[in-house]
Amino acid sequence: MRTPVIAGNWKMYKNIDEAKSLAIELKNLVSEVRDRQVFICPSFVCLAAVRDIVKDTRIALGAQNVNYEEEGAYTGEVSADMLKSIGVSFVILGHSERRAYFHETDESINKKLKKVLSKSMTPIVCVGELLEDRERGSTADVIKKQIHGCLENISPEDLIKIVIAYEPVWAIGTGKTASPEQAEEVHALIRGELKSKYNNSVSEQVRIQYGGSVKPGNIDELMKKPNIDGALVGGASLKAEDFARIVKFEG
Ligand code: PGA
Repeated sequence: MRTPVIAGNWKMYKNIDEAKSLAIELKNLVSEVRDRQVFICPSFVCLAAVRDIVKDTRIALGAQNVNYEEEGAYTGEVSADMLKSIGVSFVILGHSERRAYFHETDESINKKLKKVLSKSMTPIVCVGELLEDRERGSTADVIKKQIHGCLENISPEDLIKIVIAYEPVWAIGTGKTASPEQAEEVHALIRGELKSKYNNSVSEQVRIQYGGSVKPGNIDELMKKPNIDGALVGGASLKAEDFARIVKFEG
């Protein structure tokens, strides 16, 4: 059995006061949730304040990015060790916004992945096709390339510690969710790739989240699909009631 994992990606939203208020609201709404993992990813500057609010709750702390170097003269960057020391346990890697605006590649994501694993945090590796890819019929090829590139030289023991997030780029922040069937098709494809690259037992243990306009109104249907093990939520994670409803999905 794979434990479902629901994540809130706050992106570049919420100043310190707003982040604290949202964390307090969430703490009150989801504190009793038991059979699923939940984490929230505020901006770097709000991590410590949010940590203080969610400590001793079932809400874990996540980060939206990391640098792959151990330390050094990299102005403006944040290391995995810094994240670990502040209480982060999940790190989102290769989000499509980072691929599109900050030149992240499968190769740099792979380096970040290894660094995050070396600090015993859980990496969330994002993959997803553009609208053009889907229209051209090349979704499967794009996803396979990303999976193999991001997971290069990752051992089976490490693979089971990783969460993969399938986020079709055309569904992010657009209000256009992939249908549960469209999402399940790609999730099954990803699991199939993991099976051929590793083996069946390992591939069955990896959790694959869906992301892209997840809302209270579509989470239950998505979570009913056999290969959908959670959600990476952007916009709806900024509203405590909506995120709490998503966390409390009925699957
Ligand atoms: P969205 O974002 O829920 O606002 O579509 C998802 C994501 O970017 O992870």
